[in-house]
Amino acid sequence: MILFKKGDELKKYLIKKAVEGISIGFVPTMGALHEGHLSLIRAAKEKNGLVVSSIFVNPTQFNDQQDYLHYPKTIDQDILLLEKSACDVLFLPDVQEIYPSGYLPDHYALGSLETVLEGKYRPGHFQGVCQVVDRLLAIVMPSTLFLGQKDYQQCMVIARLIHLKQYATDLHIVPTMRETSGLAMSSRNLRLNEQDRKKAAAIYAGLTHLKSRLKPGKIQSLCDDIANDLLRAGFEKVDYISIANAKTLDPVEEWDGETALVALAAVFLSGIRLIDNIPLT
Ligand code: PAF
Repeated sequence: MILFKKGDELKKYLIKKAVEGISIGFVPTMGALHEGHLSLIRAAKEKNGLVVSSIFVNPTQFNDQQDYLHYPKTIDQDILLLEKSACDVLFLPDVQEIYPSGYLPDHYALGSLETVLEGKYRPGHFQGVCQVVDRLLAIVMPSTLFLGQKDYQQCMVIARLIHLKQYATDLHIVPTMRETSGLAMSSRNLRLNEQDRKKAAAIYAGLTHLKSRLKPGKIQSLCDDIANDLLRAGFEKVDYISIANAKTLDPVEEWDGETALVALAAVFLSGIRLIDNIPLT
């Protein structure tokens, strides 16, 4: 695996590879890698000649400074994991490399994607995600970008970014990897103690239960029931349990039995914010 810290050097290297006809798969990350990230690398390798991954904890997407400061950092272990995986190139920029002095962020027209669900509870978050992914795509110029379905809304936002900026990049969304308990794999799980990690499995169990009860008609109470169950189980806060249109993320309170739906959750356990989702139809 080759490591680059400078965007212009990486870009030069990748242009040479593209001219040789080698397709580039890209897996952006914020590090603290787990099996979910490695499944993205494997998916990228299946479809591309060269796999590039990046590790960059992006300050502009954190609306909570404490969350940024406490974001897990396991860089040595990450490099070992990537070396053992199919990753060919690692981009490891510092903040100055991504946001040099004089950097002026665009404003990305994300529409209602920016005000619902994560957008509502994390103002500015998706503008920050777009800023960093825009910078990374302009450097890597991948044929295909690989993202995890666990960040369902982020996938939709980045699809919008690709369209807005006319990148010649396909988006490939990889299903969520789960622990045997059902808990969605996430770098934030590293901050849970063993007992909370077991408790956190209730999120997926709740969403699965909701799915099993879904039928046409009014559906809001399914979400309320899960929220109450989680609060009773010791979760301290529920930002949302929501059923939304799977294509637009508009909330759906009454289901016609046909519209494709997704159920999404954001909850706090011992101060850690955890998100998950499952497609319902
Ligand atoms: O999902 C993440 O890890 C981040 O939001 C991403 C896409 C790497 C941008 O910082």
